[in-house]
Amino acid sequence: MNTIDPWSSSIIDYNKLFKDFGIKKMEIKDDKLRENRLFSRGIIFGHRDFYKWWDDFKSGNTVSILTGMMPSGPFHLGHKMVIDQLVWYQKLGIPITFAIADIEARTVRKMGPERVKEITVSYLSNAFALGLDPGQDIYLQSNRSNSYYKFADLLSSKMTFSEIEAIYGELSPGKVISAFVQASDILHKQLPEYMGKHRVLVPVGPDQDPHIRLARDLADRIGFVKPSSTYHIFARGLDGEKMSSSKPNSYISLDEPVDVMKKKVSNALTGGRNTLEEQKELGGQPEKCIIFELYKYHFEESDEKLEERKRMCKAGEIMCGECKKELIKRMSSWLRTHQSNVKKFKGKAEKFVDDNMEYPF
Ligand code: TRP
Repeated sequence: MNTIDPWSSSIIDYNKLFKDFGIKKMEIKDDKLRENRLFSRGIIFGHRDFYKWWDDFKSGNTVSILTGMMPSGPFHLGHKMVIDQLVWYQKLGIPITFAIADIEARTVRKMGPERVKEITVSYLSNAFALGLDPGQDIYLQSNRSNSYYKFADLLSSKMTFSEIEAIYGELSPGKVISAFVQASDILHKQLPEYMGKHRVLVPVGPDQDPHIRLARDLADRIGFVKPSSTYHIFARGLDGEKMSSSKPNSYISLDEPVDVMKKKVSNALTGGRNTLEEQKELGGQPEKCIIFELYKYHFEESDEKLEERKRMCKAGEIMCGECKKELIKRMSSWLRTHQSNVKKFKGKAEKFVDDNMEYPF
């Protein structure tokens, strides 16, 4: 079946997203967007109706941002990329809504309550340490409002089973429930009890597009504004394959000891050649290189310096050892600061979980 399964960890075929699913290529039509490295470097590669949302924002109409995360594994650099986006929009003064998808973790991933609590504390304290203002609208799927649940229930009346199957492929009861709960996440801010009808932008990874399509169809059917979305490239695993929480060596989690991070980075895939001579002669291959990707996504703020690093690599002027060493230096100091910030926010995150998270079983 020609569907994307948001719950499997299969590899996304980016071309198919444009050809078969109607995601548009992200073009930078406003220089303001270049101030965000995720836009200027093409990491946010696609969208649905992004410029309708941006134009509304630019004209001073009410807009908002909403995204969510399922607390299902360690908080890693992929999660950081999402929070970085929220923080950028927050700086533009746009209200942010952040959903913790604990219902999804329990129903689809079948995770136990204690583990979900523990991971939620970690996600929230990491998000706060990265700059998400704890005063933004942050909530758990399991503890929102009456109107949010009523909304999820009523939305389910607007779709037939074959329509949801056409979007998601194989379904289970837990998946159906969490699909409508997520539709309520994406749409409920337009309810009169919240902000009323307005354009909402949902920044997500491309695996979440089925949920976006469901929410857009539903919006149409109930006379709400269709939500807009952006899609960022998934960071590759350190081995160059798909990043997976079941392979700890494939990712860098933000709470791991600096020494472990150093080992992981030292062993990561590079675009280096077989021998030093060969590399000096042919140059390296930054497109292949995970180290370059880490600079590009997270650890080089300046576009010019990034380009210069790429040029030097390709010209054989800088070798992998040196490039790794510099990255490890930057990452070590960044991780240390980040981890001490996470500690500062832990109490706040714990209180949030204690106050809000309660399950009957
Ligand atoms: N399903 C998302 C994930 O797996 C989490 C999520 C829940 C979400 N509600 C959302 C994402 C609303 C975007 C918008 O991580």
